[in-house]
Amino acid sequence: MKTLYGIIFISLVGISLYFIYPFPQPSNSGAESRWYDQATVDKGSTLFKQNCSSCHGVNAELTLDWKKINSTGKYPPPPLNGTAHAWHHSIETLKATIQEGGINIGGSMPAFKSKLSDEDQDAVIAYFQSKWPDDIYQKWSGRYQTSDIPLIESTAKLSTDTQAAENKMTSLLRLRLGNKEISDPVSTPVEGIYQTQFGNEYAYLTQDGRYVFIGNLIDLETGINLTVIAKGKTAIAELNQVALEDKVIFPARGVEKAVLNVFTDTTCPYCRKFHEEVGKLQEAGISIHYLPYPRGGKQGPGYQSLKQVWCAKDKLKAMGIAKDLDTGDLPAGDCEKGRFVDEGYALGNRIGITGTPSLFKSNGEKIQGYVPYQQLIPRVLSN
Ligand code: HEC
Repeated sequence: MKTLYGIIFISLVGISLYFIYPFPQPSNSGAESRWYDQATVDKGSTLFKQNCSSCHGVNAELTLDWKKINSTGKYPPPPLNGTAHAWHHSIETLKATIQEGGINIGGSMPAFKSKLSDEDQDAVIAYFQSKWPDDIYQKWSGRYQTSDIPLIESTAKLSTDTQAAENKMTSLLRLRLGNKEISDPVSTPVEGIYQTQFGNEYAYLTQDGRYVFIGNLIDLETGINLTVIAKGKTAIAELNQVALEDKVIFPARGVEKAVLNVFTDTTCPYCRKFHEEVGKLQEAGISIHYLPYPRGGKQGPGYQSLKQVWCAKDKLKAMGIAKDLDTGDLPAGDCEKGRFVDEGYALGNRIGITGTPSLFKSNGEKIQGYVPYQQLIPRVLSN
């Protein structure tokens, strides 16, 4: 009887209400009701509008062209209304995406784990699932009978103990590497393959943690090297942790449109050439955040002079002097601030700097070497 009311209702008020409250369709004879109730959908609707609709659209319908990367080199937010890929995922995977976002794996969705409670996450999922037509919902629920499908089949209590599951996934790898520090695995666009990291290496693990391959994960459809993007994200996260007073900053003139982190050495000719053009970049609204990277290490000629720059009262002028573009005296390099040259060097090595100048846009994109300002400015400002 309930179903019958549903049918009458639909034929009277039409398709739009059908979407708001999806009654079981008569063709799905065995249609079960969905796992959520209307109150959950209503709650989810509010949360979705507050947190998600700016990217995914009010009705979870954006982006139509979700398979094509956009001008920033990333995938746009996919629709969550059942027309794209979201229904291929279990509740656990959907939740993991909402919790972790996509930034760590080279995407652009922010993480919501500190913003939305477990119940809130259920509610937003209920909301966008309420947009799924019945046939899609049926396929989904047939594929994922329970909401409790663990990422690792043998780890029964994964949903309550993600950390343990992650440890299990990396345990063999850790053992093989002599208990080296390994980052927590994060999911990738490839189902069942997880990315982890040790030192500068990126490794891809199977769910059971038994097999690993090390190298680059490339999307052949778009040509995007997902590993390079992931590396850039790690790099920028590290760079953002450096205190501003530890950098030598040439601020944008007027409104700041972009920040460019630049590893520099005073003795490298192309660093000098770059420095000659810093004024042009500043005028274009780009702030230059210099970090020290003595190419020759502590024995190299740049090491001492970088320390002198970092110890100077007027670091901006000192940078010019050290690069032979200005005249004046440099202080001794043995002050407290000089220690940052060692830290900058270690940081550069951690994120895989191999030469100078090395430039990082704030989206993590790395630009290696000198690029004339006429080309560099549009490249930095795009995005
Ligand atoms: C800043 C834009 C942005 C916001 C805000 C955002 N997302 Fe996303 N979302 C994306 C992008 C972009 C992707 C694709 C993966 C990536 O780039 O991280 C994505 C992917 C997803 C996916 C995976 C879909 C699939 O087909 O695999 C889900 C689920 C999702 N988002 C849910 C949400 C929910 C729920 C919210 C709000 C709590 C939200 N998103 C907020 C941009 C966003």
